[in-house]
Amino acid sequence: LFSAVELAPRDPILGLNEAFNADTRPNKVNLGVGVYYDEAGKVPLLKAVAAAEEALVAEHAARTYLPMEGIAAYDAAVQRLLFGQDSPLLDSGRLVTAQSLGGTGALKLGADFLHRQLGKSLVAISDPSWENHRALFEAAGYEVVTYPYYDPATHGLNLDGMLAGIEALPEGSVVLLHACCHNPTGVDLSLADWARVIDVIQRRQHVPFLDIAYQGFGENLQDDAVAVRLFAESGLPLLIASSFSKSFSLYGERVGALTILTGERDETAPVLSQLKRVIRTNYSNPPIHGAKVVARVLNDAHLYALWEDELAGMRVRIKAMRQAMVEQLQAAGVSRDMGFIQRQRGMFSYSGLSADQVARLASEYGIYAVSSGRICVAALNQGNIAAVTTAIAAVLRD
Ligand code: LMR
Repeated sequence: LFSAVELAPRDPILGLNEAFNADTRPNKVNLGVGVYYDEAGKVPLLKAVAAAEEALVAEHAARTYLPMEGIAAYDAAVQRLLFGQDSPLLDSGRLVTAQSLGGTGALKLGADFLHRQLGKSLVAISDPSWENHRALFEAAGYEVVTYPYYDPATHGLNLDGMLAGIEALPEGSVVLLHACCHNPTGVDLSLADWARVIDVIQRRQHVPFLDIAYQGFGENLQDDAVAVRLFAESGLPLLIASSFSKSFSLYGERVGALTILTGERDETAPVLSQLKRVIRTNYSNPPIHGAKVVARVLNDAHLYALWEDELAGMRVRIKAMRQAMVEQLQAAGVSRDMGFIQRQRGMFSYSGLSADQVARLASEYGIYAVSSGRICVAALNQGNIAAVTTAIAAVLRD
């Protein structure tokens, strides 16, 4: 029966974990997957999470099925985080939020919903984008095209190309945008840039779909949500895939959400009803634990403050690693200007390394990065950064 099944290629990101785990060298470094490691090289369990978990364990609650759209207190907290505590949208009756299996699950729910309900089958993603964006939308039945985004010459944004690319899409296309901490480039839009993008999307009647997986890793929780809020103000209907994998260090719990801002109140109940059908036919209803933890933290002033502080600690440490990387690359003899690493935001740096150079880092030095040249700065620490920068300098030199 299965003789015709061909071996699939390794996943370009998660497949690196397999290669890394199989490497027996003691000083190996995993700069592949987007995971934050602390200064000791460990994935942290946040204090706010631990406190919420202790309280939850003490409750010894029964585990019945959740509603298909998840925990109501969680969904409401997601909306406050995205739109702001005082946003009039919270009581507008135009918001639908469904707890999802991480940010990836939210993207899939949105893709399926748009495909099934509105017949959408063309999506534009940034060039480059997170590798799984293309794969996920293709699996959901879409043709995936790209709009220009990154300018390798400046290590910055190609805004004109982006605007022209989005303009040229067939009217009504789904346009996927990274709301902050662009993955993989770390290059974000300014407020003025967003205003121009929103203008094109509005004129062309495209459907904006924002992916926000790194809220809090750029500047802070408020500023990182600015794209979400600008889109909301524009009056456009909007889809948002959000995730707590990184900001709560809850990767394996799969805690995310799909939020849909409808055009008017009357659309909300039908949209929710159809979204529930998508959920029911995919996985029935979401898991409890991670969302309960997040809901508890977000709905408790003390735990919220503790979490915000821990999140700031992660952000500050990543920024310090960026600075150290630039300095140490220079000290290791790299003469080209690597200052762009410090301008990039979030967990990643788009290093400019070629696929060959990345392959050499793995084979000669046991340092794993994505073949696009993306490296996870959040996996650097004082103990491994010298080895990493020395190795990068060596592959850049030869
Ligand atoms: C990444 O880009 O490394 C993360 O979002 C993890 C993943 O699922 O790919």
